[in-house]
This record gives sequence, structure tokens and C-alpha cells, in this order.
Amino acid sequence: MTHSASVGTRGSWGSKLTFVLAAAGSAIGLGNIWGFPMLVGLYGGSGFVLVYLICVLLLGVPVMIAELTIGRSARSDPVGAFKKLAPQSRWRFVGVLGVVTGLLILSYYSVIAGWTLRYMVTTLTEGVGDSPAEIQTAFTGFLASPWPLVFHAVFMAITVWVVMGGVEGGIERSTKILMPFLLLILLLLVLRSVTLEGAWRGIDFYLRPDLSKISFSVVLAAMGQAFFSLSLGMGAMITYGSYLSEKEDIASSALYVSLSDLLVAFLAGLAIFPALFSVPGLRPDEGPALIFLVLPNIFHAIPFGQLFGTTFYLLVAIAALTSAISLLEVVVAYLIDQRGWSRRRAALVVGVLAYLLGVPSALGEGYVPFFSGFLSRVDFLFGKLSLVIGGLLICLFVGWRWGTASAVAEIQRSNPGFRLGKAWSFLVKYLCPFAIAAILIHQLADLLL
Ligand code: PHE
Repeated sequence: MTHSASVGTRGSWGSKLTFVLAAAGSAIGLGNIWGFPMLVGLYGGSGFVLVYLICVLLLGVPVMIAELTIGRSARSDPVGAFKKLAPQSRWRFVGVLGVVTGLLILSYYSVIAGWTLRYMVTTLTEGVGDSPAEIQTAFTGFLASPWPLVFHAVFMAITVWVVMGGVEGGIERSTKILMPFLLLILLLLVLRSVTLEGAWRGIDFYLRPDLSKISFSVVLAAMGQAFFSLSLGMGAMITYGSYLSEKEDIASSALYVSLSDLLVAFLAGLAIFPALFSVPGLRPDEGPALIFLVLPNIFHAIPFGQLFGTTFYLLVAIAALTSAISLLEVVVAYLIDQRGWSRRRAALVVGVLAYLLGVPSALGEGYVPFFSGFLSRVDFLFGKLSLVIGGLLICLFVGWRWGTASAVAEIQRSNPGFRLGKAWSFLVKYLCPFAIAAILIHQLADLLL
């Protein structure tokens, strides 16, 4: 980021490309490579994929445009943004909800990212294991030890270190070089995966349209995943938008970010499912462990698998880092802008807090039975539900309080020819809030009745 006069003391992105890359860096992460295949497996396959696609295009893109517009117009952290655009109102609590959500997502996000660090190290030093059984034992053994705590600590420390130095340089540079590289490795994995024996069963499960398994809970999960994967509903894009210069076009940026996010998730699924069905004994509804049980089988089956696997886990860890940075940055920006903390202190304190909150998630997958299922629950409550509620409130804010006219005027400052103002306004004002509310109410009724 360079400082520019037009935005006063706040930094701004070097150019449109760097902004798109940084936002894509926030979006592309564990959500695409770990979360998406996990949910496709848990919710029965292709039906989920279809609903997910619709959620990204119809809800995700409009909400991302809304968040970026709020951020650029207010030039502030999420809480400050609502305060500025709706003074003396309770809307600031949407920002507060986002800050709390960011903290809790970070807590378990760093745990999973720690797993990838562990896999990077052991793939390099020991290889992946010689048989599916061995691969499975290695993973369960790891989870049944206190080691996840150590890798969780390492990952969190790196995240804190980067955020302490400011968002400059680091994110921009790493995304520009490493994201295309991640894409390439994923493509090679896909090629191997779809040529394994029995691969067609996985492709069938993943892609042959099957509407019979779609239910309200599938739709809620897909919606939640769309928000999680695009980093929406908790102010990350408001914060990133606040660094966006007046010259950059918000709508096309949002579209580029969403499409690249979609592409990475799609490829991850295409790498996982064919391989999964070619290994006897593995089930798609494995949950959080899924990719760690499947991928080593591919690395095992290819030449240079060890090198390949190590590189892959390194890239996933870096993708996770650029996302974790944005999670931490939301909380840190709030403490700096609203509470007058120094960046250093904010990053350190929040990092330690998120680490502690993540301890039950790190131990609950095999070491301490009392915490079993903790990770999945925090993921559902904060990584899905809270984001969906945040997204709903953001739509209501833009549609009914701030007003789509003001928002469209902000978008047109950089793109006077923005023609989709009417369609976008309709989505944000009516379709998105209605669709999200309907699903939420249905789920709530299901729980209570
Ligand atoms: N989008 C990130 C991922 O897919 C996670 C994230 C969620 C980051 C919310 C920021 C805000 O991994």
C-alpha cells in the first residue's frame, strides 16, 4: 500500500490489480480447499455444489459489492463505517458482531492451518505413508497428540507478525506470485485424480446433477459456505474496501474476486472426490479430516509425490495466511480506529486471545474427548450462521437505511457507466434479504418445533 493524498492518513492499494489480488488472497484459503470439499461430502455431493454456485452468484457477489462500497465510502473499520454512515444508531452493532465473529473464526482457522503446516513438515521429512491405512493412522495419531497446539501457535505467531508490520508489501507480493502457482499445482492434482482407477464414481458424486438431496439445511450450509469462502458478512471486505481508491471499479473487482474464489474451490473438489472414491474405506462424510486423509493418497501415487505434496501444503498454508491476516486485520483495525490502540499491541493481544479460544478446537479432534466436536460447532456458529446473519444485516443496511441510491452514487464515482445499478439494488433490497431470512427462519423453526 502507498499513502495517497486523497485518502488522508489511511493507506490505499497500489493499483486495481493489487487490490483484487489482496481481496482474492483474503477470499481464497482454507474455505476453498478444506471447507468446500468437506461440506460437499457431508451434504451429499452435487446438489450442494449447484446450490453453492447459485449462492455465490446471487447473494455473494451483490453482498461483496455492498461491503466494498460501504468501506470505500466510509473509509473506516467496520464499526466506524456504520457509525459514519448512520450516526447515533444501533447499526454499529453489525460492525461489533463482525469483529467478534472475526476473532472466533480466527481461533479455529489457525488450528486447521496448523494441520497443513504439520503436513508440510512431515511430507518433507517422512513422506506421506505407503498405504491408505498408514495414512489414516498417521493423521489420527497426530490429532490424538498435543502437537496440534504447537502448530496452531506457529501459525498464529506468523499471522500476528505480518499484521503487526502493517498490511503493506507482504500480502500484495505473496498473492501476486503464489496464487497462480497454487492454481497450477491444483490443476496437476486434478489431472492425476481424474485418471485414477474408479475416478468416475467421484466425478459422478461431485458433478452429476442430483436435486433429490437438496433440503433447507443444505441451502443454509451452502449459503454459509458462500459467505465464508468470499470473506463476507463480518466486515473483512468493508475493511479492505476502506483502502480502495476512488479510481477502482468496485463491481468488476467483486466479480473477479468471486470468480477466482469459485474456480479454486471447484478445482479442489475435482482433485478430492475422484481420488476419494478410488481409495477403499474412505467416506465422503469424513468431516474436517477429509482432505488430509484423501490427498496423501494422490501424493503417494505420483512421481515426485513428496516434493509435490510438500509444495502443495506450503501453498495452502500461505493461502490460509493471507486469509487469516484479513480476519485478524478486522479486529485490529477496530481496536486502532475506535479504541486508539497501537497496531503492535492490538495484533499481539488479539492473537493471544484467538490462540486461547482455539485451544479446545485444537485438542477436541482426538486428544481431549471432552472438547470433541467443538471445532465443527464454532465453525457452524461463527463461520456460517453469524456470517449469514451479518450478510442479511448488511443488505438491510444498504437497501433500507443508507439507501441504494447513495451506494450506487459511490460505485459510479469510479464507474459512471455502471449500468447494473437497478438490478443490484433489487438484489440487495429485496431478493438477498428475503432469501436469507427465509432460510434462517425455516432453520430456526426446525430447531424449535
Ligand atoms: N475466505 C477465507 C477462506 O475461504 C476465510 C475468511 C472468512 C477470511 C471470513 C476472512 C473473513 O479461507
